Amino acid sequence: RKEGFRYFMEKEIYEQPQVLADILTGRLRDEAVTLDEFPSAWLANFSSVTLCACGTSYHAALAGSYLLERLARVPAKVEIASEFRYRDPVLDPRGLFVVISQSGETADTLEALKLAKAQGLATLALCNVDNSSMVREASQTLLLRAGIEKGVASTKAFSAQVMTLWLLALYWAQSRDTLDTARRVEEIAAMRRTLDVVRVQKPVHERLHRLSKRYLHGHGFFFIGRDLFYPLALEGALKLKEISYLHAEGYPAGEMKHGPIALADAELFTIALMARSTLYDKIKSNVEELSARDATIIAISTEDFELADDLIRIRAFEHPMLEFFEMLVVVQLLAMEIAIRLGNDVDMPRNLAKSVTVE
Ligand code: F6R
Repeated sequence: RKEGFRYFMEKEIYEQPQVLADILTGRLRDEAVTLDEFPSAWLANFSSVTLCACGTSYHAALAGSYLLERLARVPAKVEIASEFRYRDPVLDPRGLFVVISQSGETADTLEALKLAKAQGLATLALCNVDNSSMVREASQTLLLRAGIEKGVASTKAFSAQVMTLWLLALYWAQSRDTLDTARRVEEIAAMRRTLDVVRVQKPVHERLHRLSKRYLHGHGFFFIGRDLFYPLALEGALKLKEISYLHAEGYPAGEMKHGPIALADAELFTIALMARSTLYDKIKSNVEELSARDATIIAISTEDFELADDLIRIRAFEHPMLEFFEMLVVVQLLAMEIAIRLGNDVDMPRNLAKSVTVE
């Protein structure tokens, strides 16, 4: 069943090209995307969007909010379901409420959905399981098409969530006419290229396997990134902590100087997501500050970077989402390789369940 892979997690990381291909099937035209689930005119009615989720799905929601604002210019808010539901939140009655969940059963997310519905908001569920509670509860659904995910640590479902949110953002942009044709064509071309980008390159996997033995100790990891690479930093840190049991945090790179830099020393491993496409000079100077305080720098970058203790070189892409997916595979594999070296069962991490149906 693992088809030659050591773990389901590994198999699921390697399945990502197929998952993205399935998501795009039937949905791309040359200059536009189409979703059969609902007309784009439906989206034009809403004055804002709130994205609500837990865990990895929350990280996808955060990435989605950047895409929705940037492409569709629709005000986007992101909520952690367990906070949202007890906060007595003020909702935009003309807004769309979106829940994101692999299982469709997470108790807090499901209750948040019911709350928004009870207040009269239109609701949309992005779920991987088609007969799940959230799918039944929401007014509209976009199924994630990721196939069954067995590894407790979510990998291919996260890719599917981000890709589906990107499609939604472009579809919404079409309904509001916020992008010119050239820009839409560019987005669609980038979507098509992601299938190649997420295909695991053997030399990269081997390099991460070898590199992992240097990072089994120390007193913690900081994954840092900016813009879209901030949600990716959060996701990289969550993957690592849940399967390796090492302390890891994701942080916006520009925030390090507001406190966490106090932790910097040689035992602090900083994984810097240095995207060429996005605020490169800004993150570079953030990393320089950390290096000057002796932090150990593991840079994921297309560029040479002399301050890196280890450089994980990635391919250069113009489009931020291609860099996003390229780096996503790197952080997934790095977390997995470290955890396997530590002797952990990465498919069944201690204390975790695949679906959290109690709050
Ligand atoms: C992390 C992970 C969890 C889930 C979270 C939400 O790898 O799997 O953080 O993302 O429990 O689950 P769903 O998406 O099923 O609502």
